[in-house]
Amino acid sequence: MDPEQAVEMVDENTICVAAILGSTLNGEFEDVKRINDLLEEKNKETGWETAIHVDAASGGFIAPFLYPELEWDFRLPWVKSINVSGHKYGLVYPGIGWCVWRTKEDLPDDLVFHINYLGTDQPTFTLNFSKGSSQVIAQYYQLIRHGFEGHKNIMENCQENAMVIKEGLEKTGRFNIVSKDQGVPLVAFSLKDHTRHDEFEVSDMLRRFGWIVPAYTMPADAQHVTVLRVVIREEFSRTLAERLVLDIDTVMNQLDALPSNDVCICMAVIVVFLLKR
Ligand SMILES: Cc1ncc(COP(=O)(O)O)c(C=O)c1O
Repeated sequence: MDPEQAVEMVDENTICVAAILGSTLNGEFEDVKRINDLLEEKNKETGWETAIHVDAASGGFIAPFLYPELEWDFRLPWVKSINVSGHKYGLVYPGIGWCVWRTKEDLPDDLVFHINYLGTDQPTFTLNFSKGSSQVIAQYYQLIRHGFEGHKNIMENCQENAMVIKEGLEKTGRFNIVSKDQGVPLVAFSLKDHTRHDEFEVSDMLRRFGWIVPAYTMPADAQHVTVLRVVIREEFSRTLAERLVLDIDTVMNQLDALPSNDVCICMAVIVVFLLKR
């Protein structure tokens, strides 16, 4: 998101600007501080109170540990709410996410559901009401088991392994790196040369080595760009990172030995033509 353009679009009907800390597609952090500063000016000029919600699905459990100086959270006055996925870099098994509000007043009480049939007042703000608490306990366990230092070590390790992959891919000379060094520990990359093969073929071939590396096109206005993405998590070791780079190199050499897409299409057309005669 371009902060200038986003704030330009804010009008009297805007509830909030939603910024992303860790793009799903390339892991990039949006500039929440800049959005905050521009909104500060605009709110002062207009008397509006347009706030910011930060979708920190991945970045919420990364930025405080790897980039403590980065201001993206409640240090910025217009950030009123933040969501973060527990099952991403919160290191819990799937099915848990968190949302926190700056103050109690920032979550309007008429959105909160109160029940008392279990013997005491229970305020709840959920979409699916009853749900097991095991994931909450798992999140709590991970936080107290690792502590700040432990979680920081894990995030640093993820980041170092992402750099091993990034540098390994750069060394092959075959790829453009589309992700940034500051962001989610992931590597998004695309082929420099598309004349013979594309990213979908690289992804298919990698499956033969047991790797599932998705290839996808970027959203509107950048849909001509296809990327492959490797997300580094806690259990992805240095050995695996080095192995992946070797396997990608092998795949590229195997693709070199295969006929290009265009040749395959031409051959298929000739076969169909001959069969029809
Ligand atoms: C930026 C962003 N927001 C939200 C989500 C959804 O998160 P969850 O799986 O916790 O619902 C994702 C998932 O990839 C994401 O990348």
